[in-house]
Formats: sequence, structure tokens, C-alpha cells
Amino acid sequence: MHKDIAEILVSEAEIEDICVKLGEELTKAYEGKTPLLVGLLNGCIPFMAQLIKHIKIPMEMQFMAVSSYHGGIASTGDVKIKYDLDHSVAGRDVLIVEDIVDTGSTLKVITELLKYRGAKSVKVVTLLDKPEGRKVTFIPDYIGKTIPKKFVVGYGLDYQERYRNLPYVGVLKPEVYEK
Ligand code: IMP
Repeated sequence: MHKDIAEILVSEAEIEDICVKLGEELTKAYEGKTPLLVGLLNGCIPFMAQLIKHIKIPMEMQFMAVSSYHGGIASTGDVKIKYDLDHSVAGRDVLIVEDIVDTGSTLKVITELLKYRGAKSVKVVTLLDKPEGRKVTFIPDYIGKTIPKKFVVGYGLDYQERYRNLPYVGVLKPEVYEK
């Protein structure tokens, strides 16, 4: 897999620093509350696992699977729920955990849906943000790192379901998806 990576954008050490910093911020922000973390599968898994170790207050977790790429390297803007939450979010302080925000379509749809379902508050923490990719207005509440508009893989992020197990985030060589 490493041979398909043009450059490492976020190293393992930097990811750990990001998780420590975000964990401290979230611990303060949600003090006295029991947030419900909603992870967006599959990309959230490594980030969520590392982040929650640094959240020092009681919290709960649930998962949803949504898709907007349908296999390519660009969002279709057509957000589909493939797997839904199994408990109500009514009255809960929800924190959506995402790997990356690009066009903003996925998070805009999901935050609006969870508010409609009665969540008391809905915020978003994302490991990566690509603000140059925005097609809808959406600003994540907590951002690990802002990156340029490049297609990246690793640490949960995939190209056609592969590369999620790389321990860092790297730019995929264009020849891999131009084949
Ligand atoms: P958005 O709806 O365009 O903001 O896209 C959000 C989703 O697109 C993320 O959860 C990822 O699954 C995927 N995505 C966006 N950018 C990348 C990337 O550079 N590499 C891999 N997946 C990406």
C-alpha cells in the first residue's frame, strides 16, 4: 500500500497530538453532560477509537453508515443512509464523529436529520477538513487539521474500500485512480 502514497500529509505522531488536543477541548465543552458520540462508519473507526481515550467524562457511542461517493473519488451529493442508529437521539447532546469533511453534503444532511429527530444539540468533530471542496455551507465545530483539496487515504479513509488500515493519512498517487 505504501508505494501508492505520493506524500504523507498527517503522520501517526501528529494524529495522536490532534486526538489529545481535541479530547481536552471536548472534555471541557461537555463537562456535566453525557454526550452521545455518533460515529459515521466505516471511516470514523481509527479516529473515534483514538479520540475517545482522551475524553475524560462519561459518554456513549452509536454508529451510522452513510454514503455519498458510491466508489469514486468525488461526492455525488446524494447521501444515503445504509445503516441507522438503533436508539433515539431525542434530548441528547450529539457529537458526530467524522473522518473528513469535503463538500459538506453528508454532514449537512445528517446534522439536520438528527436535529429533526429531537437531539438537544448536534455538533461535529472531524479529523480533517477540506474547506476548498465545499459545495454547501457547513462549518465543523471541532477540526483536527485543515488540509488542501487533495484525495487522501489512510487512518480510516479509503479508495474503493482499501487503504483504511494505513496508520497515517497520505495523498493517493493519481495514477492509482486514473488507471
Ligand atoms: P462530503 O459529503 O463531500 O463532505 O464527504 C464526506 C465523505 O466523503 C467522508 O466521510 C469520506 O468518506 C469521503 N471523502 C471526502 N474526501 C475524501 C478523501 O480525500 N479521501 C477519502 N474519502 C473522502
